[in-house]
Amino acid sequence: MTRTIIAGVSVYDGTGTPAYEADVEIRDDIIASIRPAASHPPTDSIDGRGLMLAPGFIDAHTHDDFAVIAAPAMTAKVTQGVTTVVVGNCGISGGMDVTAHGDLPDPLVLLGAADAFRYDDFAAYARAVDRAGPATNVVALVGHTALRARHMDALDRDATGAERTAMRADLTTALDAGAFGFSTGLAYANANAASTEEVMALAEALRDTTALYCTHLRSEAGEIVAALDEAFAIGRHAAAPVIVSHLKCAGAPQYGRSGEILAMLEIAAATQPVGCDCYPYTASSSTLDLKQVVPETPIKITWSDAEPAQAGRMLADIAADWGTDLRTAAERLQPAGAVYHCMTDGDVDRILAHDLTMVGSDGLPCDPRPHPRLWGSFPRVIGHYARDRGLFSMATAIRKMTGLPADRFGLSDRGYVREGLAADLVLFDPGQIGDRATYDDPTVPAAGIVGVWVNGIATLTLAGPTGTRGGRMLRRPTHPTTKGL
Ligand code: ZN
Ligand code: CU
Repeated sequence: MTRTIIAGVSVYDGTGTPAYEADVEIRDDIIASIRPAASHPPTDSIDGRGLMLAPGFIDAHTHDDFAVIAAPAMTAKVTQGVTTVVVGNCGISGGMDVTAHGDLPDPLVLLGAADAFRYDDFAAYARAVDRAGPATNVVALVGHTALRARHMDALDRDATGAERTAMRADLTTALDAGAFGFSTGLAYANANAASTEEVMALAEALRDTTALYCTHLRSEAGEIVAALDEAFAIGRHAAAPVIVSHLKCAGAPQYGRSGEILAMLEIAAATQPVGCDCYPYTASSSTLDLKQVVPETPIKITWSDAEPAQAGRMLADIAADWGTDLRTAAERLQPAGAVYHCMTDGDVDRILAHDLTMVGSDGLPCDPRPHPRLWGSFPRVIGHYARDRGLFSMATAIRKMTGLPADRFGLSDRGYVREGLAADLVLFDPGQIGDRATYDDPTVPAAGIVGVWVNGIATLTLAGPTGTRGGRMLRRPTHPTTKGL
């Protein structure tokens, strides 16, 4: 039996209530006891005085499907205090072979190269995660675009009845094997031709389960109102909670619309379970999308298969060098990745602060010049947004990355500092915590994280990552208790 006591520490328990002082004892993989802080710290305890203890952070939106297998140390996440990652977002997921009809359809390339997609089904993927033993726990969703790539010979059309049946059968099998939900990325060209009816037909697999519907909306720009209505309708049809992925007001015509968009979320939330995730930055990132190439949005190219030497440069500079317009330059760079400076601080503030909002990094682990959200999101919400700017309390910041996502995804055994729950914990210095990764230098570890435990395994100490990994593939309980919200 291993036993660790963190003594005299201020505990944020994940409920959003203010911190209280306690001695917290970890025994094996469980939080064994929480006692009022003794006046003399017990011998052999970790001195937690002046430090904060919180539940390990849950990254509600990631693309770490293969990172947890290929790079199981998960350094970008563990150094932020993240102990669980939700993979399979935006319609792309790793638990199936998607190469039957040729090259990887966009944006599956965000997850890895074609040979990474070698698992026949969700159960095989889950076993591979178990074997890899990553440093973080894994919650997996099943992606709509991946199902389309597996079952359809062309992605620029709606699925036929037979294709819908085949995709839905795969989804049901995955849900039975422990997947936590279904994700779509309807804005991407390879899913955009899918009708609402196609998505509804698949989402029916969520009925009578605890699983969720998570969606990168059909539009994050001019058509966002219709896209939100579609998402809510799909959720109602499937009797499933809806998570709107990386909610934002993207592009100059959308600036200032966050109040209107959040009001829609609130109205829907009155009659059906809905929520959203958000990353704490005013730039987005994905593959290079010609629809988003407009002069008002400064775009940095993070990689380009066609023109590798242009990676790291601004699209406007590349176009100027080439003597072309932005669109022609963007076409020549394809396939490529990009960071889009397409949001305002006011909108990000309002969305991030909202009670329905969880923190999700949307970090892209395969990008050679990733958006800094991959290495900085969680300490940035606590350090920059809560401590330095006072947008909300530290307790609220932590709630958005612990108890709230645990409730949403139905993780009943973690997400709070509570006796009997899994010992996923993060110890941090409240004065020091903060992001260090920047757009120019994006892979710098965050500051102020001094201890991380994953299922009781010490994964990071003051000296840095320990190299010991305690993460698990989490499987959705198939005996439903309650829906996640
Ligand atoms: Zn997305
Ligand atoms: Cu995403």
